[in-house]
Amino acid sequence: MTLHTASDFAAPGPATDQPLLQVQGLTRRYGARIGCADVSFDLYPGEVLGIVGESGSGKSTLLSCLAGHQRPDLGRIAYDGRDVLAMSETERRRLSRTDWAYVHQNPRDGLRMGVSAGGNVGERLMAVGARHYGEIRGKATDWLGRVEIAADRIDDRPSAFSGGMQQRLQIARNLVTGPRLVFMDEPTGGLDVSVQARLLDLLRGLVRDLGLSVIIVTHDLAVVRLLAHRLMVMKSGRVVEHGLTDQVLDDPQHAYTQLLVSSVLQV
Ligand SMILES: Nc1ncnc2c1ncn2[C@@H]1O[C@H](COP(=O)(O)OP(=O)(O)OP(=O)(O)O)[C@@H](O)[C@H]1O
Ligand SMILES: [Mg+2]
Repeated sequence: MTLHTASDFAAPGPATDQPLLQVQGLTRRYGARIGCADVSFDLYPGEVLGIVGESGSGKSTLLSCLAGHQRPDLGRIAYDGRDVLAMSETERRRLSRTDWAYVHQNPRDGLRMGVSAGGNVGERLMAVGARHYGEIRGKATDWLGRVEIAADRIDDRPSAFSGGMQQRLQIARNLVTGPRLVFMDEPTGGLDVSVQARLLDLLRGLVRDLGLSVIIVTHDLAVVRLLAHRLMVMKSGRVVEHGLTDQVLDDPQHAYTQLLVSSVLQV
């Protein structure tokens, strides 16, 4: 079996590209407790950034600040050169509908469970202005196919789907509008190993074919090895190591990353 890694992808855009996302000094506290502190990085078009770290290290806090689900106390976020934190709520919501996507760890948080699979995908298209029923249904069918959900399940509700199918449906719902930047919080968590492997394969293909920029949070080093060009390791809210995924995993510099890689902390 050939083991592919993220470096088999087309390399991220040429060095002349502007970063799609620039993050500086992002800090979020919950009272006296630190959610994340002083996080800085750039993300280039077509690049996949993995974020790993133990439970409570601030991964979800960081992701939700980036996606605008909560407001950081300090720091700066620029998307495509625009200051995200200075935007009006309306502008930010528009970005969330058009340019960004957010894949939740629990598909129930990212799906409408009372709406059919086709409706879940079609709803996102309608939110960006699609009106023609036949076209919406056609696109929904196409996307269900891309995530390997049979066309005859289009009228089923997500509650009738398995966990892996729900996750694939959530991915279709998120990607149908052609976002440029996708946030993913543990997209393979809670799935059994064989389902995880297929989902990862699917994600790799979509990222490559659509040229997506992705920030993916995970506990699983195998997931970042497969998907992420670059890796950030967090501990107690701070980034303790950041670099090319293969370099960080093969030659970790920080004691915490060494522990993580040596599998002592892996479950
Ligand atoms: N809503 C909240 N209110 C208070 N503290 C919070 C809240 N959300 C997170 N925290 C705290 O912020 C820190 C970082 O939590 P976060 O959920 O970002 O970690 P995580 O790395 O995503 O963990 P996990 O891998 O378990 O999902 C923890 O100490 C947590 O207790
Ligand atoms: Mg989390």
